[in-house]
Amino acid sequence: MAAPLILALDQGTTSTRAILFEADGAPLAEAGRPLRQHYPRDGWVEHDAEEIFEASVAVLREAVERAGRDLGEVRAIGITNQRETAVIWDRRTGKPIHRAIVWQDRRTEPLCQSLREAGREPRVTEVTGLLLDPYFSGTKFAWLLDNVAGARSAAEAGHLLAGTIDAWLVWKLTGGRLHATDATNASRTLLYDIGRGEWSAEMGEMLGVPIGMMPDVLDCNGDFGETEPGLLGRPIPIRGVAGDQQAALMGQGCIHPGEMKATYGTGCFMLVNTGETRAPSRSRLLTTVAARVDGRTTYALEGAIFIAGAAIQWLGEGLGVQGGPQAAEALAAGARPDHGVVLVPAFTGLGAPWWDAGARGAIFGLTRDAGLAEIAQAAFDASALQTRDLIEAMRADAPRAFAGEVEMRIDGGMSKSAWFSQRLADLTGIQVCRATYQETTALGAALFAGVGAGVYRDVAEAAASRPRTEGYRPQLADEPRELAYARWLDAVARVRSS
Ligand code: G3P
Repeated sequence: MAAPLILALDQGTTSTRAILFEADGAPLAEAGRPLRQHYPRDGWVEHDAEEIFEASVAVLREAVERAGRDLGEVRAIGITNQRETAVIWDRRTGKPIHRAIVWQDRRTEPLCQSLREAGREPRVTEVTGLLLDPYFSGTKFAWLLDNVAGARSAAEAGHLLAGTIDAWLVWKLTGGRLHATDATNASRTLLYDIGRGEWSAEMGEMLGVPIGMMPDVLDCNGDFGETEPGLLGRPIPIRGVAGDQQAALMGQGCIHPGEMKATYGTGCFMLVNTGETRAPSRSRLLTTVAARVDGRTTYALEGAIFIAGAAIQWLGEGLGVQGGPQAAEALAAGARPDHGVVLVPAFTGLGAPWWDAGARGAIFGLTRDAGLAEIAQAAFDASALQTRDLIEAMRADAPRAFAGEVEMRIDGGMSKSAWFSQRLADLTGIQVCRATYQETTALGAALFAGVGAGVYRDVAEAAASRPRTEGYRPQLADEPRELAYARWLDAVARVRSS
């Protein structure tokens, strides 16, 4: 019998991609489509959920065709997705009632603020592990019910279904037979009790979202039905679902407590596995579900940085540095040593652990001989120094994870740079292990699906298919590292809005 193939669908914020994998994690082919962004107002970001579904079907087909393989060889599909993006659709027509509200969208800040002022945040954190921030899906569902004509009465009559992008795709791909999500995506909604592993009626009531609209919550290796035969030419089982950062955690093989990964894309998401212990955060990190496999839930602490690679893009778009990220890196690498320039890229506020929506970016420490090279280096350093912020917060919240030899596995666009990887090790003071294959998110989804379909015995066997890594040890002495961090903290204090 031919070796089983697994097809991963990675529905991200800016694109929809499919990658066909062999069981040992080797990618055979991929296909992708960019996703149109809609910005109807300042701070609002929307996606067309129908476009997402159509692109998903197209790339699933295309990846298999490109590999010159047959869909009949695909044992299972694994889905991973941009998290927190909210869709509500009508089960009778299969049509969304509005464009999807994207995780980056800030329109529900007034609701979050009023709930914070009413003192509700501590209870929200206790139940969901999250904070009252527009980032999460719950207030987005509430906005849709309150602002789309007739939505609330249709919801009360049981006509509307809600979900994150994974649930929308599962429902559409199965021809409307299954309304289901997985525990990692559920843990990003503000509506899910992560300790009890069920939707929280209390949170639903607080936000005005009827819990009956929410999907069934399955394991990451659960049975998510089969694709409607007409869509891909034959039915294919969907046997894995996970939010993209949790899928990357799996794709990097971080399945034991203390193992951690950071993905450097537009922003950066860092997660440390805390095992079956749900580590509460005193440092304003998020407590979230890392995975639920065969009914066993593991947790993670997560820190999100809003601007990482976007600061490098800004060097080109904002400052006119020509030649793309590689040219920016070469410029940065040639900066004068000990220049002391600090860039705080708080372009859209600051994420963890500061959570300051009102902060704005700034450059400090300019001297007469500072130029573009020093600013470029400060832009790269900002990602490393923000990572240090997260590491310090995680160290405070989960000291055991940092007790022994610590390594941080990294992936995403910026990690392609060996120079940045070394700089990250130098400025954080911990060993950095760069994945030699970047698509750990799609790989993680394939591995969950592989466990679901019996290709692997368990997650430990699946994790053996994680990519090789290259290690970077800190080489900078303690004194300049601590000086750089002290300068950073001073700069952050100056840009904060409160
Ligand atoms: O929480 C948001 C995150 O899931 C988005 O990831 O890779 O689509 O930007 P990405």
